[in-house]
Amino acid sequence: MGNLRRTNYCGEVSMANVGQEMTVCGSIARSRDKGGIIFADLRDTTGILQLVFDEDTPREVFTKAERLKSEYVVICRGALRERAAKTDKVSTGDVELYVSELRILSEAQTPPFEIRDGINVGDELRLRYRYLDLRRPSVHEPIVLRSKVCQVIRNYFCDNHFCEIETPTLIKSTPEGARDYLVPSRLQPGHFYALPQSPQLYKQILMLSGFDRYFQIAHCYRDEDLRADRQPEFTQVDEELSFVDENDIMTINEGLIKRLWKEILDVDVQTPFVRMPWDEAMSRFGSDKPDTRFGLEIQDVTEVFRGTEFKPFAAVLEAGGSIRAINAKGMADKLSRKNIDKLGEVAKTYGAKGLAFSRLTAEATSSSFEKFLTEEEKANLYQALNAETGDVLLLVSDADWVKACTALGQVRLDIARKHDLIDPKKFNFLWVVDFPLFEYSEEEGRWMAMHHPFTLPRAEDIDKVETDPGACHAVAYDIVLNGVEMGGGSMRINDPALQDRMFHALGFTEEKARESFGFLMDAYKYGAPPHGGMAYGLDRMVMLMLGKDSIRDVIAFPKVQNGGEPMSGAPDVVDAQQLKDLHIALTLGE
Ligand code: AMO
Repeated sequence: MGNLRRTNYCGEVSMANVGQEMTVCGSIARSRDKGGIIFADLRDTTGILQLVFDEDTPREVFTKAERLKSEYVVICRGALRERAAKTDKVSTGDVELYVSELRILSEAQTPPFEIRDGINVGDELRLRYRYLDLRRPSVHEPIVLRSKVCQVIRNYFCDNHFCEIETPTLIKSTPEGARDYLVPSRLQPGHFYALPQSPQLYKQILMLSGFDRYFQIAHCYRDEDLRADRQPEFTQVDEELSFVDENDIMTINEGLIKRLWKEILDVDVQTPFVRMPWDEAMSRFGSDKPDTRFGLEIQDVTEVFRGTEFKPFAAVLEAGGSIRAINAKGMADKLSRKNIDKLGEVAKTYGAKGLAFSRLTAEATSSSFEKFLTEEEKANLYQALNAETGDVLLLVSDADWVKACTALGQVRLDIARKHDLIDPKKFNFLWVVDFPLFEYSEEEGRWMAMHHPFTLPRAEDIDKVETDPGACHAVAYDIVLNGVEMGGGSMRINDPALQDRMFHALGFTEEKARESFGFLMDAYKYGAPPHGGMAYGLDRMVMLMLGKDSIRDVIAFPKVQNGGEPMSGAPDVVDAQQLKDLHIALTLGE
């Protein structure tokens, strides 16, 4: 770069700098030769600045400027001046740099797609050339913002007595949770490390090590199928605190959210957030991560049908089940029969046997079930749902109330998304609390921990851990934003005897529990402060802040559906010698 050294970043100059001599560097976003005058947009990580060359520009500089093409990397010096034709398309649209010295530092081939926003390129190509994609402002900016989010998080925790500690990423594989990624050990043939699904065990041990409050921005790995809000490797903002209860943890985290939203988005978030028991979230919204930005709440109409002769409902009631309904108020115009059939498909995908409906238009009522009801049942139903002309009533019955609500919860979301009932500018935070302690796995034929095996049961449920696991609730909480689980955590068991009972209730033999968690169980015998914590998905947090649809948009090098990373080509085959060193023989095709 010779004697040229950057003095300013492109996106940071303004009218206040007019008249100053400065040196800037970056890539040419585009260059226009208007015959005798050349305009070039220079792009760096902060933004874009217009460069100008004309007949008064030194000859050799102008000749060099004529060679400029997109993505050439340059450094140049000049005087900042006010622009004649201003634009508000870029933040520096009032000014331009009148260049007196120019160095081309690197030439560039024509890229496989244009490096600007608003182009239509397939994901496959974008991710194969991710370094080019990341130069585009709309792809670049979320990554920069993510870094600022991390900085605010660090400041907040450090201001509140937290200690940042890194925990290992080559760890022991433990059962429960998702599938582990395994790493073979060269030095201990036949032994494997796991990559951490979260720093859970280590952060509990840190509390037993006297650190009092810990946090970490931690990389985590889970061998799961990908979704818009799920990647096989992702980042958690992980924390654990001693000598606190769940309310302290929620309050401290509300402070974090308040600071983040203010400093990053200049949005004032109202705290405290609603704390909604899991049972209520499921029964009103059919989800443990309710989107409360719109209504369409689910109502319980079971009692209306007590003693009904309508066979499908009668059978469900006999089995101790439940009938739930949504009144889509005033939506008869929007929800045609065809739309309702599609909603029926949604309900079925989520486990409902069907979706009963009544569409109350001014002309007539079309209903899949009203003809089987008595006048009284019909009147009671209308009253319970406050039904009037113009409404659409949607009902699901199931022996399991959670199933009925879950199916209606998905119907609710589908209606809201398709009919624009959601205000994208809203940030609706809430805590879902009092989760069930266990959930029954049909696949495994046993009770599993809903959160993880170290979660504290509610005091009033401790006696029921063995006798009635399905009725136990946990001191666990999730933080939900706009229908997405942004984070979650719990208070932990710090009594070794209770931990033993939990392992037992989860079907661990004593031997298996010791084999997997012996080190942890021993650690709790040497004095354990009461403690709890939580973890946010950082990717989800940044996605939600920016109103993006996928966490891929806030991860520099995301994975695609088949778990691959298209730019580098990971995962890939390895040399036979590498496998030999690791004592591994492949059995492909056997
Ligand atoms: P949990 O398993 O609920 O809790 O994870 C915490 C948060 O991490 C995010 N998350 C993910 N983000 C992207 N891709 C994934 N595959 C993925 N899986 C999880 C979610 C989720 O809310 N150790 C406990 C926390 C605790 O108890 O302190 C834990 O990991 O936003």
